Amino acid sequence: MEMIRLDRFLTQAGVGTRSEVKKYLKNGMVQVNGETVKKPEQKIDSEKDQITYQGKLLQYESFVALMLHKPGGCITATSDRLQKTVLDYIDHPRKEELFPVGRLDIDTEGLVILMNDGDLAHRMLSPKYHVEKTYFVRVNGSLSEEDVTAFAEGMEIGEKKPTLPARLHILKSGEISEAEVTLREGKFHQIKRMFAARGGQVLYLKRISMAGIALDEALAPGMWRELTQDEKDKLLQP
Ligand code: URA
Repeated sequence: MEMIRLDRFLTQAGVGTRSEVKKYLKNGMVQVNGETVKKPEQKIDSEKDQITYQGKLLQYESFVALMLHKPGGCITATSDRLQKTVLDYIDHPRKEELFPVGRLDIDTEGLVILMNDGDLAHRMLSPKYHVEKTYFVRVNGSLSEEDVTAFAEGMEIGEKKPTLPARLHILKSGEISEAEVTLREGKFHQIKRMFAARGGQVLYLKRISMAGIALDEALAPGMWRELTQDEKDKLLQP
């Protein structure tokens, strides 16, 4: 059971802003279980009560999840006194409930999933579940089959244990090389440290997928969208 104020339910369901919703209520446009309710502060049970607006039943989904194409120059946190955060790019009626699943460095771009389910986020980040994350990377210097083997075998990057087996797929090798890297863990600066351990330096890093969900190419940096039902289903699989 989730008891919430009627005006909050209506704004979260996307009916309108707080003041618009107040007006709609006053005009008798909202019914709770068939009865017109005009008080914004009325408490309702978002799971059991049937709320209609202009005769249409409003669906309330407790789970909210979206993807952001994180631009460089912002941190993956919900608030910060000095830096811009990923939440500064999100304009969603239930924004206050959301937090990012895992972190990207300030200069890393790409896919960040935000959701309001703490247990699920925790599971997705636990090494036990091996959720795969794939990154596009541009590095200084050439890449070779030896690098592929080193990534696959796991390497020492100054942690207690070597890294878990990772996939390095070389796209281009030269003075500046490009590759895709897939990890099943997420240690601090892990990709930068793995390339550093191979004598390289990461020039550009972008996460392109996580848990089988690809960054939507239609999203420019700084843009977001809700996950589709198919994408949400991928998250919910343990
Ligand atoms: N590895 C890094 O070094 N940085 C990131 O942001 C993500 C993975």
